[in-house]
Amino acid sequence: MTILITGAAGFIGSNCIHFLHQTTNYSMVNLDALTYAGNPDNLIALQNSPRYTFVHGSILDQELLTQVFQQHKPGAVIHFAAESHVDRSIHDPEAFIQTNFVGTFRLLEATRSYWNSLDKEAKDQFRFLHVSTDEVYGTLGPTDPPFSETTPYAPNSPYAASKASSDHLVRSYHETYCLPTLTTNCSNNYGPYQFPEKLIPLVIHRALDGKPLPIYGDGQQIRDWLYVEDHCSAIYQVLNKGAPGQVYNIGGWNEQTNLSVVHTICDLLDSLSPKADGTSYRTQITFVTDRPGHDRRYAINSQKIHTQLGWKPKETFTTGLEKTVRWYLDNTTWVKRVTSGAYRNWISSHYGDSRE
Ligand code: NAD
Ligand code: DAU
Repeated sequence: MTILITGAAGFIGSNCIHFLHQTTNYSMVNLDALTYAGNPDNLIALQNSPRYTFVHGSILDQELLTQVFQQHKPGAVIHFAAESHVDRSIHDPEAFIQTNFVGTFRLLEATRSYWNSLDKEAKDQFRFLHVSTDEVYGTLGPTDPPFSETTPYAPNSPYAASKASSDHLVRSYHETYCLPTLTTNCSNNYGPYQFPEKLIPLVIHRALDGKPLPIYGDGQQIRDWLYVEDHCSAIYQVLNKGAPGQVYNIGGWNEQTNLSVVHTICDLLDSLSPKADGTSYRTQITFVTDRPGHDRRYAINSQKIHTQLGWKPKETFTTGLEKTVRWYLDNTTWVKRVTSGAYRNWISSHYGDSRE
């Protein structure tokens, strides 16, 4: 089977392509616009694979989408392409509405038209898997139960609102046109190939560079962290066993405060790459102005995917974070190539030169 995967030059998509390349015999077509977050280095190991094709282009380009469907005739779509960083959505929401909402709409339209042209058997087997986020559910109080698939939507950032809107569109294409859609709402991912604007790679990178480690507000916000390969295995299960029209929440059963995450990274670096002066990386921690509208707590109830599809994560936070820190220590060329690009411009405009 050929799968069309959008946005797979980014963090989760590239991990997913590596995962599916190793564990299945799927052929994969990656349609990616290569924004600042899209990095062809992530997939360089597959450049000679007959099962991997890269198409440079945007999900906003309706004509290109039609061509890609006609040429590659996919049996499924996995839709990752998005603007994904909350801080960027606060500074400049336009691209989020364009890609996450309008782009998803165009992709759904192209998929619907292609799907309608298939014979009955191919139509029945086809799947459109939309990769979404737990942020659509808003924020939790300290004693609230974790988000389930029936938690009402209450997005608090332009990013979350754009993803929530796309989830509603996907739902409507199933209800109205019977398109066999699947939606996954996942918690915070971490692991190899993550762009260093997100908390975990940002802290690793800045710690090693001797720079301040910025903690927003009091650092007591809680996220439910999942190792990225576990997210990929969940997507695989949903694609193969999920029921069309259904939503599956994916989480790590792993709530951590931001401060605790940063402490753990500092401790790992202290043992794996100790500072020459003998001090701890923890001394670089700096509390900075909070993110506007900052959600206090996310937590996911993954019971549905666990009981219905048999999925559970393999990594604990201890094993996953150590693997991750080692990966960034072992892949300095990747890190240098990423940080020498547009990321620097963003960091200096967002944080000011003093933080560079
Ligand atoms: P990312 O920012 O690392 O990658 C996004 C990719 O999409 C990039 O390769 C980029 O070039 C591409 N892209 C952007 N606009 C495009 C367009 N118009 N057309 C085609 N490609 C385009 O994001 P990520 O962290 O890998 O997230 C992937 C998906 O998973 C997103 O939909 C995100 O909302 C969702 N998600 C992310 C997390 C997380 O913790 N990172 C958690 C849950 C869900
Ligand atoms: O929950 C899933 C979401 O997780 C995904 O949908 C998003 O695409 C992904 O970016 C991520 O969103 P967050 O906003 O939770 O991730 P981020 O890494 O930006 O921040 C994690 C937490 O750390 C958050 O509470 C803000 C805080 N933070 C972040 C940065 C970048 C800091 O304290 N300092 C920082 O410099």
